[in-house]
Amino acid sequence: MGERWVDEHRRDGYTRRAKKEGYRSRAAYKLMQVNKKFRVIHRNDLVLDLGCTPGGWSQVAAKIVEPKGLVVGVALDHMAPLPGVTFVRGDMTHETTQAAARACLGGRLVHVVLSDMSPNITGNYGLDHYRSMQLSKLTVDFGLPLLSEGGHLVVKAFEGGDMTAFANHLKTRFARLKRFRPDATRKASSELYVVALGHNGRGPPEWGDFLEEDADDEEGPDDW
Ligand SMILES: C[S@@+](CC[C@H](N)C(=O)[O-])C[C@H]1O[C@@H](n2cnc3c(N)ncnc32)[C@H](O)[C@@H]1O
Repeated sequence: MGERWVDEHRRDGYTRRAKKEGYRSRAAYKLMQVNKKFRVIHRNDLVLDLGCTPGGWSQVAAKIVEPKGLVVGVALDHMAPLPGVTFVRGDMTHETTQAAARACLGGRLVHVVLSDMSPNITGNYGLDHYRSMQLSKLTVDFGLPLLSEGGHLVVKAFEGGDMTAFANHLKTRFARLKRFRPDATRKASSELYVVALGHNGRGPPEWGDFLEEDADDEEGPDDW
C-alpha cells in the first residue's frame, strides 16, 4: 500500500466525516486542528475569515465564539447563510470589498484574523507560491489594522522561497510565530499555515522589496 494511497484514504476520511458531521468542507478539520494546538479562537470573539466559502472554517469559528461573538466572512463565491456569520461577497484585492468587510465590524477590532484564501492552482510551483504569498501579504495589510493587541492571525501559504522573508516581517508584529501543517492537509500539498500569536498592536510591516522579484525565480521550500 503506497504512501499516496494511505494519504488519499485519510483525506477521504475527512470528507466523509465532514458530510456526516454537517460541515461544508473537510477544511473545517484544518481549523479545528489549528485551534486545538494554538487556542486562537475563544468564546465571544470577533473573527474575520478571509476566503471563507464554502464555509467550513466559518462554521467552526461561529460555534466557538457563541453566544456573543461574530464571524465576518469574505470570499469571491456565493455562500449560503450560516448562523453567527456575516458574509461579504467580493474580491479582497478590491477596495470596495475591503470597505464592505470593515463596515460589518462597525469600528470594532477583531480578536482573530483567519485567511484560507487560495489562488487558482496552476501546477507551476513558483507561480502558485508567489500568488499565495500575495494573498498572505494582503491578509496582513488588511488584517493588522483591524486586529486587537494580543490578537492572533492564521494565514494559509504555499511553501517556497519567499516564506522566510514573510515570516521575518511578521515576527516584528507578533510575540510568537509558528508554522503548522494540520493532519487534514494532504501530504503531497505544499500548503501550510502561518500561526502568528500575540499581536503587538503595530500596523502592517514595511515590506521593502518583498515579492518584487520575478515569480519564476522562486526557489524551493525554506526553513525559518
Ligand atoms: C480553499 S477555499 C477556503 C475554504 C474555507 N476555509 C472552508 O473551510 O470552507 C479558498 C477560498 O479563497 C477565496 N479567495 C481566493 N482569492 C480571493 C480573493 N482575492 N478575495 C476573496 N476571496 C478569495 C475563494 O473564494 C475561496 O472561498
